[in-house]
Amino acid sequence: MKKISKAVSLLGLLFILVSGTIDLDDLFNYETQNIPSYITKDNTPETNLINNEITTLGRVLFYDKNLSENNTIACASCHQQAFAFSDPLTSSVGLNGGNTGRHSMRLVNSRFSNEEKFFWDERAASLEDQVTQPIQDHVEMGFSGTNGDPNFNDLILKLSAIDYYQILFEFAFGNSTIDEDKIQKALAQFVRSIQSFDSKFDEGLEQAPNLNAPFPNYTPQENLGKQLFLSPPPNGGAGCVGCHAPPEFDIDPNTLNNGVIGVIGSTTEVDLTNTRSPSLRDLVNPDGSLNGPMMHDGSMTSLLQVIEHYNNIPNNPANTNLDNRLQRPGNQTQQLNLNTNEKNALEAFLKTLTGTGVYTNEIWSDPFDNDGNIAVIGNQLSANEPIFEKSITVFPNPVSTDLTIQIETGNYRVTIYSLLGTMMVDEEISGTKKMNLQFLAKGVYILKIQDLDSNNSFNKKFIKY
Ligand code: HEC
Ligand code: HEC
Repeated sequence: MKKISKAVSLLGLLFILVSGTIDLDDLFNYETQNIPSYITKDNTPETNLINNEITTLGRVLFYDKNLSENNTIACASCHQQAFAFSDPLTSSVGLNGGNTGRHSMRLVNSRFSNEEKFFWDERAASLEDQVTQPIQDHVEMGFSGTNGDPNFNDLILKLSAIDYYQILFEFAFGNSTIDEDKIQKALAQFVRSIQSFDSKFDEGLEQAPNLNAPFPNYTPQENLGKQLFLSPPPNGGAGCVGCHAPPEFDIDPNTLNNGVIGVIGSTTEVDLTNTRSPSLRDLVNPDGSLNGPMMHDGSMTSLLQVIEHYNNIPNNPANTNLDNRLQRPGNQTQQLNLNTNEKNALEAFLKTLTGTGVYTNEIWSDPFDNDGNIAVIGNQLSANEPIFEKSITVFPNPVSTDLTIQIETGNYRVTIYSLLGTMMVDEEISGTKKMNLQFLAKGVYILKIQDLDSNNSFNKKFIKY
């Protein structure tokens, strides 16, 4: 009795001590987040609907430096929550101090768009297709298979040897085998789950009869800015609505470039291929400062600079891919002739598109502790656990020396994992077996018995004291 209470208090202690913890019995809710009824655009494919188990795995992958060749870079290194999942640097730092050729993109509300292609130049056909490209980029994460780099298969082997991925892939997909499709699904679900609908704009839209009516919670300046954003240029508006349509503020899929054609680090080269923008929501932090420089080349460092650009689109004959909405008859480019008052109003309006929750909500935060460790706890080992049709008894629990597995004759693989996911025992048995577990440190463990004939498995948590 005394021993049991000791073991139970040890269990309590374990739960308090672990900070970087994923509790499989208490997942965050990604599946049924509140999406306002006026949000209608959605690029989620039927084959990859957000589910809590897979998105939880996606969160771990997103923050895991093991996804880079030398264990120094995670997705989150260049997509930081505090900056709406972008990077304050113009060019992000990748492996071995290499720099990205374009500015990192915010990943807020990526799900809510008509555009299904990703990257500034839309070279990824879908988000699923996009998410494993940084891993295979020589500069970003280094599993390119070129320049002497390891390839994607090497990454799969690397991840397969990490204990917590054995548990998390099994939990998410009912099978611990790792492949590119599963990694894509999990990362894409996590990115799609990142949403922000608690801005002043959202409050206003809830209160007003429609988008075009003045919002009661806006200042007159913000309402003027909204009107300029929503009106086409011939009527004195700024025409932003033509390409960044509210309430999602996603990019129109049929846009050519907007006249920003620079290349980071070059004064002579031009790049005409950038025709996508992230949603214009969360351009600035809740404190009003920018989440990072704007545009693919990070060349704009204030909202007024952006507005000035559209006010007076540069007439560059080298730009053969300028969107015709920004051109005027006779080889002219757009001149809006906005006055200072109007420019300030447009800036004030853009600032109302910022939310608060997305910057701090734990569901999108780093699951690893300061030392880079993560503990996976919880009872349920598989999202769709198959029925184990063999009769089985495991005793005693808690156990101090011998654990007896009473089971009918067959072929079984017995594995024991610590709560940190480390495999402690891996053995094949053919029937009832007494296992000496004296060597295990005190703590909570997970026993898994796999029937090698049917592939069904039986899982049980036990305490070693
Ligand atoms: C070294 C920095 C770096 C790392 C690491 C990185 N990214 Fe990016 N990410 C960028 C840059 C830069 C872009 C824009 C690149 C371009 O368009 O050419 C980008 C673009 C994206 C986009 C496109 C967004 C849009 O709206 O089109 C997504 C999604 C994305 N990254 C997700 C990820 C994921 C998931 C990972 C980890 C597997 C990751 N990134 C790792 C820098 C990085
Ligand atoms: C013809 C389509 C079009 C119109 C009209 C347009 N934009 Fe854009 N916008 C784009 C494209 C394309 C990009 C991405 C350009 C790049 O980075 O090279 C972009 C990028 C931006 C960005 C930078 C986003 C980021 O994440 O860095 C801001 C801010 C912006 N636009 C604001 C506006 C405003 C304000 C207006 C109205 C005055 C406007 N846009 C009108 C197409 C357009």
